[in-house]
Amino acid sequence: MSFDQWVTYFRRNRGRQERIEAGVDWDASCSMTENERAALVRSFQRFELGESGEGHELLRKAARAGDPEYLEALKGLVVEEQRHSALFGRGLRHMGASSLPAHWSDGAFTALRHALGLRTEIGLFLVAETVALGYFRGLAEHGPDEVIRGIGERIVTDEVEHVRFQIDRLRLGFAGSTSIARFAARGALSVVAAGAATVLVVDHRAALRAVGFSLYGYWSDGLRTFARAASAAFGKESRMLGPSLPADSVLQAPSR
Ligand SMILES: [Fe+2]
Ligand SMILES: [Fe+2]
Repeated sequence: MSFDQWVTYFRRNRGRQERIEAGVDWDASCSMTENERAALVRSFQRFELGESGEGHELLRKAARAGDPEYLEALKGLVVEEQRHSALFGRGLRHMGASSLPAHWSDGAFTALRHALGLRTEIGLFLVAETVALGYFRGLAEHGPDEVIRGIGERIVTDEVEHVRFQIDRLRLGFAGSTSIARFAARGALSVVAAGAATVLVVDHRAALRAVGFSLYGYWSDGLRTFARAASAAFGKESRMLGPSLPADSVLQAPSR
């Protein structure tokens, strides 16, 4: 199993990101209601912080695993997460709001993650990305104005690929494990996913409603997305999924 195709993907994906960004009128005025604005500001402030981690510890663990291709690809993913954080910041400025200073709970979560092994940390990444995917898609499709929809599209298209990337690394990480070990890992992560989806729904309830979700509907969809990804990651299949986008679509020149 080689992560070469992912190294290439992360290198080329910048072109697609730029195409999406070029299609957004970033100077368009903010045309949402005050309720929508308040809901999204609070949510974007949390996501701006959550996505801003520099990933030093994760990269160190990946370096110790001794797979230079995987490490290179993971660096590409960390850069994309920092760009997501910057996009949430851009959304905040669009809404005339400021960023939050770092909150102690972000540091606590990071400290907790540092105590874990690489496989577990990737499992947690998979949880976080699968339960948030629906929200990013909601922003892309039902965001209250063009800038918010552009930010949603920019992020959701990356995250779909990130989920496939985590699945591939988990398949490799569990390749030599018994089916009982996989079952146990999947079960433990499912519990974490239920908690993570609950926290997301509670923390971002106003924003979720502003893009048209019912809270229970969002929670159960998020868990279904996680469950699909988990069966891909912890099932018997050991071949890599690879990026879903054909290389051509990533390579295209920006359209005018
Ligand atoms: Fe992200
Ligand atoms: Fe991601």
